Amino acid sequence: MIHENVQAALADLPLGGFLFYKTIGSTNDEALAWCGRGAQDLSLVIADEQTAGRGRSGRKWFTPAGTALAFSLILRPSRIEHEQPARITGMGALAVVDALRALGLEPQIKWPNDVLINNRKVAGILVESVWHGNTLDAVIIGMGINVLAGSLPPASDLLFPATTIETELKIPVDRSDLLHGVISSLLTWRPLLGSDRFLQSWEDALAYRGKIVQVQKDQEAPINGKLAGLDRDGGLRLEGSDKSLTIHFGEIHLRPMDDTIR
Ligand code: BTN
Repeated sequence: MIHENVQAALADLPLGGFLFYKTIGSTNDEALAWCGRGAQDLSLVIADEQTAGRGRSGRKWFTPAGTALAFSLILRPSRIEHEQPARITGMGALAVVDALRALGLEPQIKWPNDVLINNRKVAGILVESVWHGNTLDAVIIGMGINVLAGSLPPASDLLFPATTIETELKIPVDRSDLLHGVISSLLTWRPLLGSDRFLQSWEDALAYRGKIVQVQKDQEAPINGKLAGLDRDGGLRLEGSDKSLTIHFGEIHLRPMDDTIR
């Protein structure tokens, strides 16, 4: 991936700033630092390779050179984004889903942060917030997408089965075009973030709807229930045999209970 090519591919998008690295530790760390230096809304940090990419729950995220998309988009939150920060994660996931659908794939969201194709993880999202007192100063949407076949980590490092876009499509995809698709979709959804249409589209894209799943939050005991959908805050509604409950954002592990997926 070459700096000038990426920038040219994104030229029609209203980015607030653009930083490209051939190699960097983590684009989210760079974006966090840039927020402190006054980065504008819709500033983008992208790297061809990350040497210290971060996943959720303190895990590592693998981004070898020349194969993946790893980027962080900085949002200076609007009022609705301030009030409904969980919807920002949904918006990121839905943007990836839209871009993959445009390639003819059938992606799904493993709530809250993963995108799957054929029940295998193809993308992960790490949303981080910068607070000043009670004010949400910035939100960083970090996305890692397994684009080309070489982007997968060694199988021994995988907690959940993974795939790449190239593996699923059987042809390689241009990473700059894909990035353009993801950011364009995100910009389309952003003004609709508070709408029922957004919530419905997010819910429609969920994996395992109507199926029994197991959800484990932080150090708590796992909960089993039928995945019924989303509540208005983007929480996950589960129907148990005797009661229903909503799981809110946090460190969540969600798995289908029919364990046919390897
Ligand atoms: C996950 O599935 O655990 C989330 C993975 C998020 C990875 C992306 S790659 C770009 C950005 N920079 C990081 O260090 N992490 C995110």
